[in-house]
Amino acid sequence: MSSLQATLMATPYSGPALAVRNVSKCYGDVRALDSFALEVNRGEIFALLGPNGAGKTTLIRIMTTLMRPDSGEVLVNGLPIGRCGREIRRQIGVVPQENSLDRYLTARENLELHARLHALEPKRARKRIDEVLELFGLAARQHDFPDTFSGGMQRRLVVARALVHDPAVLFLDEPTTGLDPQSRRAVWEYIRSLAGDMTIFLTTHYLEEAEQLCERIAIMDHGRLIALGSSTELKARLSGGATYEIECVHAQGAQRCADILRTLPCLEELSLSGNLLTVRLGQWECLAEVVSALGGTPVRRISLRERTLEEVFISLTGAEVRD
Ligand SMILES: Nc1ncnc2c1ncn2[C@@H]1O[C@H](COP(=O)(O)OP(=O)(O)OP(=O)(O)O)[C@@H](O)[C@H]1O
Ligand SMILES: [Mg+2]
Repeated sequence: MSSLQATLMATPYSGPALAVRNVSKCYGDVRALDSFALEVNRGEIFALLGPNGAGKTTLIRIMTTLMRPDSGEVLVNGLPIGRCGREIRRQIGVVPQENSLDRYLTARENLELHARLHALEPKRARKRIDEVLELFGLAARQHDFPDTFSGGMQRRLVVARALVHDPAVLFLDEPTTGLDPQSRRAVWEYIRSLAGDMTIFLTTHYLEEAEQLCERIAIMDHGRLIALGSSTELKARLSGGATYEIECVHAQGAQRCADILRTLPCLEELSLSGNLLTVRLGQWECLAEVVSALGGTPVRRISLRERTLEEVFISLTGAEVRD
């Protein structure tokens, strides 16, 4: 162990769990990360969102010491990735985007191999493996090979494996892609149950997942950080008034209302589908004007349409499909 490692490990650490400073990484001509910077607090569940090819997996590879950045600095629990790779690997758990199970080992043997690589004492390893198998609903199939598992079970096994050695920081690269809603919710429950003790950094394309689990969410595109905050803060960034749905009793009434509402100065957008009107107002304060303009038309429901994280995501990253 170098004197730097010894010093860093001996000092109690109170800074952020992850600090990424000005990190760039190119693959040939492709700039996957471009002066990327981010800090994740200890004990936080943090989500990184971004379209395909945004650079999420590249960032995770760098933070988990699998790849070196071209420039910039990354600290995991205060340890620099360049010089303390071995110690960092001891402290982290990783669920890679692609399952990386050993197909010639049973589920239990996969976990045992991982425990041995982390030098867990055999008795403690046995106990911990029993625990995670139970926690992830895999105990009954522990002596079967991963190839005989459903996609959801394989994914759960990969998450279980990442937890065997009780990591301080857990990286999950799209942990629930391909899972059915039941398995996805089960994985969310496990992740939630770990919150507080463990720092959890996840990437996902399921925006609901980020909203349900994470205190803070970052959005990146083209290798750059473009937004950061709680889901409420991110939604508040969307400009442009309030959108209401007005459900009339009859389509005829909806058409009549649409004609009247189109004359209001505060109306920014209106669409009509059968008996449902969707109106965007410059300011929510204009709602009273809208209600009085409806006159005696029978209306079943007027409701505010909440802004969604997907709207924020699309407004920041565009609607174009990525290669
Ligand atoms: N090994 C590689 N060699 C060359 N280019 C690569 C390599 N890995 C990634 N890239 C490119 O780097 C960019 C970022 O890729 P990365 O896998 O980090 O994106 P991502 O955000 O994880 O995407 P996804 O949501 O599809 O998983 C993409 O343009 C990708 O094509
Ligand atoms: Mg990826």
